[in-house]
Amino acid sequence: MKHWVSNSRTHWQSNSRTHAPNVAPRVSKGTWCILYWLDKNKSFKAKITALGCYTPPGVLTNQDLEKMVDTSDEWIMQRVGIRERHIAEPDIATSDLAVEAAKIALEQRGIEAGELDAIIVCTVTPDMLFPSTACLVQDRLGAKGAWGFDLVAACSGFVYGLTTAAHLVSSGSHKKVLVIGADTMSRIIDYTDRSTCVLFGDGAGAMLVEPTADGEVGFIDFLNEIDGSGGDALKQPAGGSRMPATIESVSNRMHYVKQDGAQVFKYAVRKMFETSSALLERHNLTTADIAVLIPHQANRRIIVGAAERLGISCDKVIINIDRFGNTTAATIPLATRDALQAGKVKKGDLVLFAAVGAGYTVGTNLWRWEI
Ligand code: ACO
Repeated sequence: MKHWVSNSRTHWQSNSRTHAPNVAPRVSKGTWCILYWLDKNKSFKAKITALGCYTPPGVLTNQDLEKMVDTSDEWIMQRVGIRERHIAEPDIATSDLAVEAAKIALEQRGIEAGELDAIIVCTVTPDMLFPSTACLVQDRLGAKGAWGFDLVAACSGFVYGLTTAAHLVSSGSHKKVLVIGADTMSRIIDYTDRSTCVLFGDGAGAMLVEPTADGEVGFIDFLNEIDGSGGDALKQPAGGSRMPATIESVSNRMHYVKQDGAQVFKYAVRKMFETSSALLERHNLTTADIAVLIPHQANRRIIVGAAERLGISCDKVIINIDRFGNTTAATIPLATRDALQAGKVKKGDLVLFAAVGAGYTVGTNLWRWEI
């Protein structure tokens, strides 16, 4: 017990702004102990309080792709639903996109980066394997009080990040967690492979997660899964410890995304439906109760297929893949921004986020929107 109390005090004193409960200084160890216990046993809930998005200005249209590979605007629109995607300049990396999105979120909330407790960067295209992109973003933002890490869950990354942030805040140990989904997919896409190069774009989005005020609900529940048996269906084979970079790995184009599109497609439709309906059922809700379904944007037909099985009316399903393509961890915040701008989400509305990605990973979150 003594050890526990003294550790707690040291922790609060070294970083009192972020983690200490509201206590007056100069109190006895016993008082600290009671206040700590009370704080730990208080029930916290988490809400999303700000959203920032950034896409690089460069645009790659279907007409541009027609000049690069054997494809057509008609095929891409019919089979995938993408018209254009944003592509970062060669000197721009994922942390650059992430920082821009983060700055917008912080400005919207009216807080300084120094107030952040943690930064989670969801990405499969980090600037480099280490240091983490979270470290690079923390430094660029000047978020001196934050810890953080990169979260690798491909297209489900942002939903996993929100789940993690909600639990950090709900535990009472964190007050401001910034979740960033950022990917520069153009760096790992083979622009000679028509089956993948038409699908992806670059972008970033950030959401701030904080404790709710009295009477607010915020984060309700999640249903996340991984299924590693699907690993071969979508992967970047080289660049890790299994296949480090060699002349052969580069000449065989093994550092690019490889996928079995049909397998991924079927799995994505089924899982988006199964987890979304199971999560709603767990709360005695139906799709009629939610204001919007904000799905990961991989293929318009995947979204429509899952939405039809869910029986949700199409005006409640947010689709913006035509303008951004699949930006991997950034699709959910980008689609949320569009839903807000279209007036489809208001304070008190139920919002369902759903994603499926490489791994396989599956992420579903239910939130009550509190902004
Ligand atoms: N332009 C023209 N023709 C093409 C293109 C293209 N860009 N790409 C493939 N084709 C051709 C194929 O070669 C094939 O020709 P063939 O019949 O002569 O052999 C034909 O089109 C049909 O190919 P399919 O692979 O069966 O096409 P499908 O309708 O399945 O669409 C696609 C392919 C778009 C990849 C689809 O399977 C898909 O979206 N899968 C999901 C993959 C995905 O989104 N992954 C990303 C992340 S994971 C996620 O977010 C869930």
